[in-house]
Amino acid sequence: MAANPQFDVYRLPEEHQAIRDATREVCDAEVAPRAAETDANAAFPQKSYAALRAADLHAPHIEEKYQGAGIDALGTAIVIEEVARACASSSLIPAVNKLGTMPLILAASEELKAKYLPQVASGEAMFSYCLSEPEAGSDVAGMTTKAVRDGDTYVLNGAKRWITNAGESEFYTVFASTEPGSGSKGISAFVVEKSDSGVSFGAPEHKLGIKGSPTREVFFDDVRIPADRLIGAENEGFKIAMRTLDHTRVTIAAQAVGIAQGALDYAAGYVQERQQFGKSVSQFQGVQFMLADAAMKLAAARQMTYVAAAKSEREDDDLTFYGASAKCFASDVAMEVTTDAVQLLGGYGYTTDYPVERMMRDAKITQIYEGTNQVQRIVIARQVLNGLVKL
Ligand code: CAA
Repeated sequence: MAANPQFDVYRLPEEHQAIRDATREVCDAEVAPRAAETDANAAFPQKSYAALRAADLHAPHIEEKYQGAGIDALGTAIVIEEVARACASSSLIPAVNKLGTMPLILAASEELKAKYLPQVASGEAMFSYCLSEPEAGSDVAGMTTKAVRDGDTYVLNGAKRWITNAGESEFYTVFASTEPGSGSKGISAFVVEKSDSGVSFGAPEHKLGIKGSPTREVFFDDVRIPADRLIGAENEGFKIAMRTLDHTRVTIAAQAVGIAQGALDYAAGYVQERQQFGKSVSQFQGVQFMLADAAMKLAAARQMTYVAAAKSEREDDDLTFYGASAKCFASDVAMEVTTDAVQLLGGYGYTTDYPVERMMRDAKITQIYEGTNQVQRIVIARQVLNGLVKL
C-alpha cells in the first residue's frame, strides 16, 4: 500500500525519535546508575544535573532566541519521560525549569525574558514555581502572601509551601495577592531571586518519594523587589498561573509515563528470569494478564500525553481539557503499573534491592502535584459542561 503522508500524524516524527534516543543514551549512562543512591541519600542529584546540562537537556524548552535548545513541547515531554524512566527526582530538573519559566514565556516583558531565560538555558540557574501555601493548595485564590506596591518597588510578605527544588533554584515565580479580598482577580506574578534580602527557606520535607528533589517552604519577609519584576499585568496572576499549569500538566503526564515505563521494563525482564514451579513465572497466565494490562494502559497514557503536548505547542483552545486529562490519566496509570510491578516481583519487589518500590513511591506524587487528580477532574468536568471541548 502506498504511504499516505496524512497518517504521519500517528507516528512520532524522526526528530522526536532522535530526541528520545539521545536522552536515553545519557540517562542509561549517567542518570539511572545514580537513581537508587539519590533516593537513599535524599540529596539533589548534582551529577545527573551536570550530565543533563552537558547534553543540553536540563531546560530543553527554552527558545534558541534565549540561547536555549529550542525543543518543542512534544520533544520536551519526551526528554522528561526518558529522564523519569531512569530517575524521577532528576526528571524534576527539566520539568520544574519549565514550570518556573512558563509564566515568563507566556506573559513577561521582553526585558524580563532576556534577563532570566538565558541563565536557565545555560544551566547556571534553575527556576521554581511558588503558588501553593499552607492554607491554599487546591484553592489557589485563597492565597494570603501579599505584594504591596511602594514607589517603583513591590514589598512581599508571606510563605509558600511544597516548593519543588526550593533552595537549589536561583529564581522563583511567586504569586501574591496585590488586591486582598478580590480572590482570583487580585493576584499578580513576580520574579523573586534567592539572593533577595528577606527570602529564606524551611527545612526539606521528609517525603515518600522524589527524594532527590528538595521540597521546602519559601518565606518572604519584607522582600523588596523592583516593580519591573512583575510578570504580565497587575492582577492577571491567577490566569497566568492556570495557563502555565495547562502546559505543564502535560509534563507531569510525561513524567508519569516515564516512571511507569521504567517499572514495566524492569518487571517484564524479571518475570522471565524468575523461576517457580519449574518454569519462568512469565509463563503463568495470571502474570501475563498483569503485564498486558500494564502495557495497554501505558500505551494509551503515552498517546494521550503526546496529543496534549502537541496541543500545548499549538496553544489549542482545548489544551486545558487535554492537559488535565493527560496528567490525571497518566498518573493514575503510573500508580497502577508501578504497584503491579512491585507485585510481579513478589517479596523482592518490596525491598530496596530492586528499583520498583522506589518507582511506586515516586509515582504517587504525580497524582498529587500540579493539582490533585480530584482537581483535574473538576477542571475536566467544567470543560465538558461548558461545551469547551469537542471530542
Ligand atoms: N486559563 C485561563 N484562565 C483560566 C483558566 C485557564 N486554564 N482556568 C481558570 N481561568 C480563569 C477563569 O476563566 C476565571 O476568569 P474570570 O474571573 O475572568 O471569569 C478565573 O480564572 C477564575 O477561575 P475559576 O473560577 O475556575 O477559579 P477557582 O477558584 O474555581 O479555581 C481550580 C479553579 C481549577 C480549582 C484552580 O484553583 C486549580 O487549578 N487548583 C489547583 C492548583 C494547582 O494545580 N496547584 C499546583 C501547584 S504547582 C505544583 O504542584 C508544582 C510542583 O511542585 C512541581
